[in-house]
Parts: sequence; structure tokens; C-alpha cells
Amino acid sequence: MKISAGTSLAALAATAWFATTALQAPGGATMAAAVNADRLLAAAGDASNWLTHGGTYAEQRFARLDQINAGNVSQLGLAWFHDFDTNRGQEATPLVIDGTMYTTSAWSKVMALDAVTGKVKWSYDPEVSKDRGFSACCDVVNRGVAAWNGLIFVGALDGRLIALDAETGKVKWSVVTVDQGQPYTITGAPRVVKGKVIIGNGGAELGVRGYVTAYDAMTGKKAWRFYTIPGDPAKGPDGEASDEVLAAKAGSTWSGKYWQAGGGGTVWDAIVYDQELDRLYIGVGNGSPWNHEIRSEGKGDNLFLSSVVALDPNTGKYIWHYQGTPGETWDFTQTQPIVLATLKIDGRDRKVLMQAPKNGFFYVIDRETGKLISAKGFVPQTWTTGVDPATGRPIEVPEARYKKAAFVTAPSALGAHNWHPMSFSPQTGLVYLPAQEVPMQYESQAGYAHRPGAWNVAIKMIAMEPPSDRAVYKATRALLKGQLVAWDPVKQKEVWRVQYDGPWNGGTLATAGNLVFQGNAKGSFQAFDASTGKPLWSFAAQTGVMAGPVSYTVNGVQYVAVTAGYGGAYPISGGFGDGPQRVAPNGRMLVFKLGGTATLPAWEPPQLPPPNPPRDSFTTAQISAGATNFAENCAVCHGAGARAVGILPDLRRSGALDDKALWASIVHDGALKENGMVAFSKWINRDQVETIRAYVGAQAKMLQAEEAGK
Ligand code: HEC
Repeated sequence: MKISAGTSLAALAATAWFATTALQAPGGATMAAAVNADRLLAAAGDASNWLTHGGTYAEQRFARLDQINAGNVSQLGLAWFHDFDTNRGQEATPLVIDGTMYTTSAWSKVMALDAVTGKVKWSYDPEVSKDRGFSACCDVVNRGVAAWNGLIFVGALDGRLIALDAETGKVKWSVVTVDQGQPYTITGAPRVVKGKVIIGNGGAELGVRGYVTAYDAMTGKKAWRFYTIPGDPAKGPDGEASDEVLAAKAGSTWSGKYWQAGGGGTVWDAIVYDQELDRLYIGVGNGSPWNHEIRSEGKGDNLFLSSVVALDPNTGKYIWHYQGTPGETWDFTQTQPIVLATLKIDGRDRKVLMQAPKNGFFYVIDRETGKLISAKGFVPQTWTTGVDPATGRPIEVPEARYKKAAFVTAPSALGAHNWHPMSFSPQTGLVYLPAQEVPMQYESQAGYAHRPGAWNVAIKMIAMEPPSDRAVYKATRALLKGQLVAWDPVKQKEVWRVQYDGPWNGGTLATAGNLVFQGNAKGSFQAFDASTGKPLWSFAAQTGVMAGPVSYTVNGVQYVAVTAGYGGAYPISGGFGDGPQRVAPNGRMLVFKLGGTATLPAWEPPQLPPPNPPRDSFTTAQISAGATNFAENCAVCHGAGARAVGILPDLRRSGALDDKALWASIVHDGALKENGMVAFSKWINRDQVETIRAYVGAQAKMLQAEEAGK
């Protein structure tokens, strides 16, 4: 049946997928993770729980709770915290179901915690092989789980989708959703829709072809798959739900041998179910490689890259699409969080979806037709002058395609807004959006050749990095901004804006207490007045807070929870990280309530070893070749300019830097591959490895001079 706005729950109960769901364990005891279709569809009326990734299917991240409110939030205190076992990236939104919290940490580890005390009920480690970390563009993060009928689902970094018994954490079933011989990863949260688990994947920086798959939630049997872009035409159709539309609409929008590098289009974050129209919206990512000139001979829109695509959740068949960045060439993913709402626009109720993807436009799209209602830039944009309302296409600044010369694009690959969840308050009518300004220089990579398994973006990585020269570096750093923006989606205009010292701040939660909660990169978790943006409360988290907060109640007490820990793309906090170099503490779950009195143990970062420049001397040619080799191979993990973020080793201080043989054994031969530092012999030779030592050595000398106060 079609579920429309007026459909009653009783009518729904008559449908098979609804009726087959058992909520009671044998013996009548309430089972763990007792989530069924009924509860998910009615989640907006169940403010005590956080049943699905965005709170409800509409993913507004609005908590209908007001015990904690603008009048008393100053009394908010820590109720409990739970330490994770790693300081690697933390991005998860927890679920809270009937007093139990289910969440994830880095390396796709899952845990169930008592939502009142933080006591661990169980934990599960999928034991992802550490060398898999190499395929993760932006750390070994995970954004959370889904729940259904006594099961908890996690997408593991190595491409498995795993169903766990919510009571015990034991594996019920596990399926491999990707070709593990290719650099696919999963970092996104699964969603459960009508008894099916939907999961996407990532990997378009390295070279893959994106898709989403639906599996039967109880058995793991595949139901359908939708590829977002065409494959190699010589191989014929895939035999999947996407065949028809790829042939009819997408194929002719691609040129050249695009399939050789995968083509991209991964669905690594937004997968949102529309319960009013019975549709699924997926956010589709960037091209692989990024450079359109090289990916598709500079021709065509490359459907369905950088698009929102509406699918039938029953069959996986295409319904409509809206492409924000045709012929994308800047890593402008449109995977960013999607929020559904009904807005009164020009006196008429419109069912809309709202999205603020990397390209810097805030889109309001008609969910019924996929047609653009309005789009407006929410940060400065150098690549475009606006969206043509007639066609829905951006009006491009021609030079922005960097075909002949380098171009500084704002926003850039890190996005005007990235995965950090935004929220919508039906009370204020505003969207609370973590925005940022990070311009980057794009320059085509001369002599680009696809390197299987490595980064393949076909853009000169070194041109994207902040410059080494301290004065230029400081000037560049000053351009970077981060903001919390309260956006009126009807008027398409900003209502208030909080400025931060830098980008990469946290996801938001709006509440009926007229509050907005948000963490930031500089280590505080804050509450703002939702109407005015006035800061009302703040907590020193000892580490950056990136994830989306949630709120829930147990026994009538309201809690606010957030995952603390740095997350995502390293270079942003590393390359641009100023201030003292330090080691980041491990991630944590932080949970607050009014009058909470728990305190965090004092955090003393361990002393870092001094810079360790090699005693060998190198030629300037070696150092300069090393800079390029470093940018192309190492910066994504060890930080632009070898400025570490405080998570992976700071190579300028490494004991191996002054030892040619040891350096080569690690970098070329993979001596530390068990720990995630893979062998680079596949991609660079020993001489190139030595040039990188020369370059890091020069950076170490600069650091030495800085620390000596020169
Ligand atoms: C995908 C992420 C990733 C990339 C890319 C990467 N590394 Fe690493 N590297 C790591 C990790 C993780 C470790 C820590 C291993 C451990 O704990 O033993 C590490 C450790 C090292 C170490 C040992 C440092 C020490 O003092 O313990 C060296 C040297 C090193 N990397 C050099 C490089 C160079 C040079 C490149 C580029 C050619 C590179 N790495 C690229 C992840 C990466």
C-alpha cells in the first residue's frame, strides 16, 4: 500500500511487513531493541527514545523534550561518561531504546550501555583488519547503528553488514556488501525501512563505483541494489534495480573510460525514508577521480553524481533525482544529511527535503516531484553566482573548472557543510547548520595515471595544502572559518550566526526547550538559545566534539548525550591546527542531565618527543620532490605539511626520521602494516621514499626552530 499523510496506524497494521513484527520476547518480557514499523513511524510522538539515526524517519534531530530548557540549562551537568579505547575519529550518533544506548566507536566497534548509569551491557568488535584503514579517506570512523526487532545493525569499515543480538551483542548474521578487493569502506549508519536494512559505502577518493543495497533485516538476504552511476558498458547491465534508469538517463552523460577508476558516486551518509510518500532519498557522492576533465573527458553531467535520488524502498527502483553539481569536479558530494519537513511556502503546505551539501547551497526540494523550490548560498562561493531557478542548475564561474589555470574554490573538498548533522526545529522553523569556509586551490595533476588502491583524485594535492612559509600559512589560516548558522528555509536567509575560530565543528540537536546543542573543534560542547543564538551553557570536553548530539528520557529524567572525539578528515585540524602540538585524548560518550555532578578526570597530554631532523643532508631537488610525494601519499593521514593532528604519529618527531633504513622498512616495506601503516612499495620506489624523508626532515627543522622560539 501507499502510505500517505492521512494513513492511520491501524491501516498500516494490516500490511504484511508491519504485522509480522514481534515485539515481545518469549515469555512476555520486553525484548531489547524492540523497534518495529509501528514505533518507527510514530517516533515523533515518542520523545523518550532515539530510535533511528536522525531521531525519526524525517531526520530532523529535534527532541520534543523541554525539561532541560533555555531557563535552566545553566544547571546542566555531567551525569556519566564512558571512555572508548582509542583516540581515532569519533562520529557516531547513538540510539537510545527503552533505557539502553547503542553506539559505535572507531573501527566499527559497537557497544550497549545503560542509558542512566553508562554501565557496559555488552560490546562487540568486528575485528576489522588494520590495513583496511588505508582505504578510509577520512579516518576509521563510524556514524552509528540501526535497530529492528531485537537486532542492532552495524556497517563495518571492511564492507560487512553485521546484525547483532541486541540483548547479548552476539552476531546473528553477517554479509559482505562490497568487493573487498577494491578500496570500499563503510562509515555510515544503516537505516531500517519496512523490514529491510539499507546500507551504502565509501571509497570514491581511491576509485570505486557507488551503490546502496537493501537486505532482509531478519536474514541478511539481499533484496535489491541500486548503482548510482553506470558501469563498464562492455560488461552489460548489472542485473540490478538501477539497470533501467542508468541506461535511459545516466549512460549518455558520461564519456571516456570512466569505469576504469570506478567513477565514484558513493552513498556514504544520507539515506532517508519518507514515510508520507513511501520513498527513500539517497545522497550521492563525488566523482572518482574528482577531476571531471580526466574522469569523463570534461563532458557530461555524470548522473547521478552529486545528486539526491529518490527510490522506491520496496524495489530499489528510481523515482526522481536532483543534481546539485552537474559534471562535478571539486569533490562536491551531495551525501550530506537530508532533513524532511512540511513548510508553508507562498501560503501553501509543501512536503520538502532540505539539504546543505558541500557546494555551499541550501536546497529546498519538493519531495513529491524532485523539483527545486529554492536554493541559496549560505557561505561565500567563488565557483558559482547562484542557481538558475528555471533549470535548477548552478550558474558556474567558467574559470572555476581549472582547465587552463589553477583556481581557488570556495567552498572546497572539505565542504561548506560536511557529514556533521544539521537539525530543524518545527518550533522556531529554523535549520541549525554547522557551516564552514575552507577555500582550496584546484589544479589539474599533470601526467595523472590511475594507481589502483591509492588516492586517485587527479588534482595536484600539494596545491591544496596550506603553504609551508609561516607568514603565508598564518594568512591562509586566518581565512578559515566555522559557524553555527540558524537558517530560515522558507525565506532562504540567515537569522543568526555564531562564529568559531575555525572549521570542522560538530553536528547539532534542536530541542523543544528552545535550545540548540553543538560541540566544536576546539573542545567545548555548548547550548544556545534557539531563537537568538545566545550562548547559554558550555562544557569543556577536553577534545573536539564533531558528532550529532541526541536527547532522551529514562524514568522521567531528560538526558543529552554526545560522542566526543575528533573525527573525519585529518588535514583540517592537522594541517591547519595551530597552537601547541599535543596528543588527543581517547574518545568518550558524554551524557548530561540537570544537576549532574560527575567530573572528567584531569587530562595531561603526554610529553611529545622533540623534532628529530635527519643528520644527512639533502638537495633542494630532493626536498621539493618530497613535498609533492608527501602531499600525494601521506598528508591525508599524517597531516598537510607533516603537521600532525595529535592522533597518528607526528613524523617530524619520529625516531625513524633520522634512520634511512628504518624509514624505508616502514614506508616502503610495511614494517608497521599490522598497525595500519601499509607498505607503499606498490606506489612509490625507494628513491621517492627517501625524498619524503628529506621533506619531512626539512619540516622537522622548521619545527625545531619554532620550538626554540626563533
Ligand atoms: C591511511 C593512513 C596512512 C597513510 C596514508 C600513511 N600512514 Fe604512516 N602511519 C599510519 C599509521 C596508522 C601509523 C601508526 C602505526 C603504528 O601505530 O605503529 C603510521 C606510522 C608511520 C611511521 C612510524 C612513525 C613512528 O615514529 O612511529 C612512519 C615513519 C610513517 N607512518 C610514514 C608514512 C609516510 C612517509 C607516508 C606516505 C608515503 C605515510 N606514512 C602514509 C597511517 C598512514
